[in-house]
Amino acid sequence: MTKTDATKTDTSPTAPGALPLIGHAGRLARDPLGFLEYLRTLGPVVRIRLGRTPVHVVSAPELVQRMLLAGNGVEFDKGGPFFDQASRIVGNGLSTALAGPHRPMRALLRPVFARQRLLHHTQRFHDCARELSAAWQPGQVVDAYTEMKRFAVAVLARTLFLAPEDRRAVDTVQRNVPTLLGALGTHMMVPGSSRLPTPENLRYARASRETREAIRTMIRRRMSDPTDHRDLLSALVPPDRSAPHTEQEVYDQVLTFFIAGTETMASLLSWTLTLLCDHPDACERLVAELDEVLGDRPVTHEDLPRLTHLKRVVNESLRLHPPGWLLSRVTLVDTELGGHRLPAGAGVLFSPYALHRDPRVFAAPDRFDPDRWTGPRVGRPQREAFIPFGAGARRCIGDTFAVAEAQVALAVILREWRVRPAPGSRPQALLRITMRPQGVRLILDRRPDRS
Ligand code: HEM
Repeated sequence: MTKTDATKTDTSPTAPGALPLIGHAGRLARDPLGFLEYLRTLGPVVRIRLGRTPVHVVSAPELVQRMLLAGNGVEFDKGGPFFDQASRIVGNGLSTALAGPHRPMRALLRPVFARQRLLHHTQRFHDCARELSAAWQPGQVVDAYTEMKRFAVAVLARTLFLAPEDRRAVDTVQRNVPTLLGALGTHMMVPGSSRLPTPENLRYARASRETREAIRTMIRRRMSDPTDHRDLLSALVPPDRSAPHTEQEVYDQVLTFFIAGTETMASLLSWTLTLLCDHPDACERLVAELDEVLGDRPVTHEDLPRLTHLKRVVNESLRLHPPGWLLSRVTLVDTELGGHRLPAGAGVLFSPYALHRDPRVFAAPDRFDPDRWTGPRVGRPQREAFIPFGAGARRCIGDTFAVAEAQVALAVILREWRVRPAPGSRPQALLRITMRPQGVRLILDRRPDRS
């Protein structure tokens, strides 16, 4: 992929079936996953039209990698379809920052997710999972997504803010975040809805006020606190005042992390529980592995590398149901990708879902097969095509955090509970910013050896 001075002629083939005015927007809205898989069969770079705007869909793993690695910040940047809406809502957080401001921001926040801090975080994952599990009653029917979202919000509240004095303010943030996320989801899907005086918006206004107040309280306290708590807030309000941030900037980052780290995690966990219900053999094998590796001990950070089947189940769940199913970029300059010319300012879409289900890379791609992640079966093509966390400089900053969080949550839940689908439970993919399951109702039975 090189910058090109050549003409701005766009040489990628156009998908058939565009309608006047709306182009392919109807097909993308009606059956997004089917349409993205169909586009993959047409070629590595295919042009579609969303309304009047041409958009390029890139479906070849090697081209997606080149765009995200070498091309980032040079030929491609964050942007493209749906991006403006998202950035209006989350403000200037890490995930929406353009390449220039992104670099120093990422460098500042990277230590919060450094591997050595995971040791501490793993204990918090365990505490939150135990609290969730302790609140359940044998025979209870739960909505998997709702429960997993509660867990994910609690984890973030307890890992992003670590000063004991912040406890009350953190509780306020934790209590209000689900209301904020619910309303922001509506604002993103229904343009203009944020201005209507709906009950949801009134709850949103109150939650936003309370959250801002709590964050303001924490910032003020940190301003006179000489301790580095090695958390998100210490990175943004460092004890030596080396990187001063306004209250608005801190609020934007906090919201960004809650948005990026809760729906994704709740989706991963509820999809995984759904898959395990559908594949009891894989579930039994997982429970046997947990018993063998852990005995009666609580799971710790050191156990995670030895829980190999658990890791493969999580990978396979991320492959089949990547929460970030559709991502976008914009070209900064006239660019060549896979022999096609893309003009400056062109919107680009790529879909981890379509890449993960490519039969040229993954045999029987729709089959749940955790063993496909055993060493010899994973080569460069699979590694290149498997991008549940993106790749390159914009790769998910919480990737290892998220995988450890999922492993710990599943270990705690599956050792204590047998999970089976409730009658009438019909999981379906709900495609929004994330791909999440809806309608997953599970019955919880205590495992006999745990009663
Ligand atoms: C299963 C869980 C998760 C999945 C599947 C996921 C997926 C992703 C993906 C695909 C991206 C890249 C988007 C792009 O290239 O356009 C991303 C970015 C990001 N994620 Fe995650 N994520 C998960 C969990 C988390 C968690 C737990 C956190 C924080 C605690 C987090 C914070 C972020 C942030 C801040 C970014 C923006 C990074 C940047 O642009 O530098 N994510 N995530």
